[in-house]
Amino acid sequence: MKNIVILISGRGSNMEAIVKACAAEGWPARIAAVISNRPGAGGLAFAAEHGIATALVDHKAFAERAAFDTELARVIQSYAPDVVVLAGFMRILSADFVRAFDGRLLNIHPSLLPAFPGLHTHQRALEAGCKVAGATVHLVTPELDHGPIIAQAVVPVLPGDSEATLSARVLVREHEIYPRAVRWLVQDELAVENGLVTQLQGRAQALI
Ligand code: GAR
Repeated sequence: MKNIVILISGRGSNMEAIVKACAAEGWPARIAAVISNRPGAGGLAFAAEHGIATALVDHKAFAERAAFDTELARVIQSYAPDVVVLAGFMRILSADFVRAFDGRLLNIHPSLLPAFPGLHTHQRALEAGCKVAGATVHLVTPELDHGPIIAQAVVPVLPGDSEATLSARVLVREHEIYPRAVRWLVQDELAVENGLVTQLQGRAQALI
């Protein structure tokens, strides 16, 4: 049984999708903890209601990024994680932190990486006149929103779209691809070669 630790900063809808898929599909894994850097994160209540351990590591309590990262890593390690999932976790993590969880740290980003790393992805996609948008699940490397791509989902950008309508359309697909990608990692179905991920059963294409 593998331990999954999920990090959130807010609503936690991706975390919810992963919790539900893990239970419904009988993954060889359990959600060992949900950790937030914000006391008010809505997802903490969902986790607690589902009997999942929760923890708070409030970044505001730390003067230095390095001290926050050290404490966050200590709390994560206390749950003996096999996989660490960033699910709307809105803090940039240091290279040392990332290296400590190399190969087992996942992120979802609401754009078709490598386009639009960073913030305000949907607004930037609209301003650029993109005809499609989407989301990317990737292994985390020290460079922000980079790292080997595991899965992507594409949605159309429709006439009259706003940031709200586009982000809602993308979020539906995030809830499909993130649980799949976590499951693949849990089941040792991913291989990384020269910085590129292959999904051993070749099912990643089916998600697009
Ligand atoms: C999601 O859209 C996720 O892709 C994005 O934050 C949202 C969190 O929603 N993540 C990032 O922007 C990371 N750079 P959720 O809390 O409901 O899962």
